[in-house]
Amino acid sequence: MSGKPVCVGDFEQYAKRVLPKAVYDYYRSGADNQQTLADNVAAFSRLRLYPRMLRDVSVMDLSTSVFGQKISMPICVGATAMQRMAHVDGETATTRACRSLGTGMMLSSWATSTIEEVAQAAPDGLHWLQLYIYKDREVTRSLVQRAERAGYKGIFVTVDTPLLGKRFDDVRNKFQLPPHLRMKNFNTDNLAFSSEKGYGENSGLAVYVAQAIDPSIKWEDIKWLRGLTSLPIVAKGILRADDAREAVKHGVDGILVSNHGARQLDGVPATIDVLPEIVEAVEGKVEVFLDGGVRKGTDVLKALALGATAVFIGRPIIWGLAYQGEEGAKEVLQMLKEEFQLAMALSGCRSVKGIDTTLVRRTSPAASKI
Ligand SMILES: Cc1cc2nc3c(=O)[nH]c(=O)nc-3n(C[C@H](O)[C@H](O)[C@H](O)COP(=O)(O)O)c2cc1C
Repeated sequence: MSGKPVCVGDFEQYAKRVLPKAVYDYYRSGADNQQTLADNVAAFSRLRLYPRMLRDVSVMDLSTSVFGQKISMPICVGATAMQRMAHVDGETATTRACRSLGTGMMLSSWATSTIEEVAQAAPDGLHWLQLYIYKDREVTRSLVQRAERAGYKGIFVTVDTPLLGKRFDDVRNKFQLPPHLRMKNFNTDNLAFSSEKGYGENSGLAVYVAQAIDPSIKWEDIKWLRGLTSLPIVAKGILRADDAREAVKHGVDGILVSNHGARQLDGVPATIDVLPEIVEAVEGKVEVFLDGGVRKGTDVLKALALGATAVFIGRPIIWGLAYQGEEGAKEVLQMLKEEFQLAMALSGCRSVKGIDTTLVRRTSPAASKI
């Protein structure tokens, strides 16, 4: 990349040049042969936009709300672990960038900053906690209570990770945190993913998950979580309509349609392809969000047209952090905001309420023969 980035891909090119290889590989990788990793992006390209003309788009309103909290745009930042590998300020830079842009940040349980540090870095910012359920339930309970005390506005419980997906590069690199960093929400070396001995020949993170995360979690555990907190709970990682209905039955307030950035089970569908059936299944009872492969303003428009309340971005923020810390994360968010605004304007939508399903159609095989 020479000169200023003009699209999200430019930030990634820069990050690839400056980050240590094992770090870049960890952030970039998907599971197995990465079929779903490519499809998350490609699936957006299979959708066509059908814009309306002559709709006066001189004044635009991109704002919306998530569980009653107003955000300036339906683009939020999703949980990506261990952000201080990308920039020294890590998650505190991300939350400041989100606050500047008026949007929310989901903090990973596996952050290299504490729940409290992130809240203090942007006291008037909007934070949600991404939650892993540990074998030791007290660990999980304490994360939830700390998030409540620190003013977080929701819990996104990850449901797609009883074990870690196999990411070839992480196995090859025997991925682990650099020695100066820890998963800072935990006190013991074991829980903080910080072993002097290392983690053997495997991805260190895969070993960590097998040791610490509870593979026996089931729907009743969502009820247990419901009993722990009055904060909104979102099931993160739903890909099927029947699971979406199950989640609603067990008391969630929202569903995040996600395949974990294609890092868990390879061969699952792209998230944008399953969004419509999940929106239909929940019958408006809960809010539905999407992440996975969102790289452009038109992707955001397509996801909203198909029923998402808002989208979350993962890797693009990491690339922004690697580029220039808080400033870089801000630039990524600002770029996506401007692209989304342009996509709305060129489609004849003045506000997010005006975005409807008629804006999007799937490309038919017949169309490619014309
Ligand atoms: C480097 C990296 C770390 C991630 N860490 C977590 C995590 O700690 N918890 C979690 O639930 N999801 C995690 N995810 C998944 C993201 O929350 C999100 O689902 C995904 O990144 C969205 O796809 P995208 O990267 O294509 O935008 C991670 C993803 C990446 C790329």
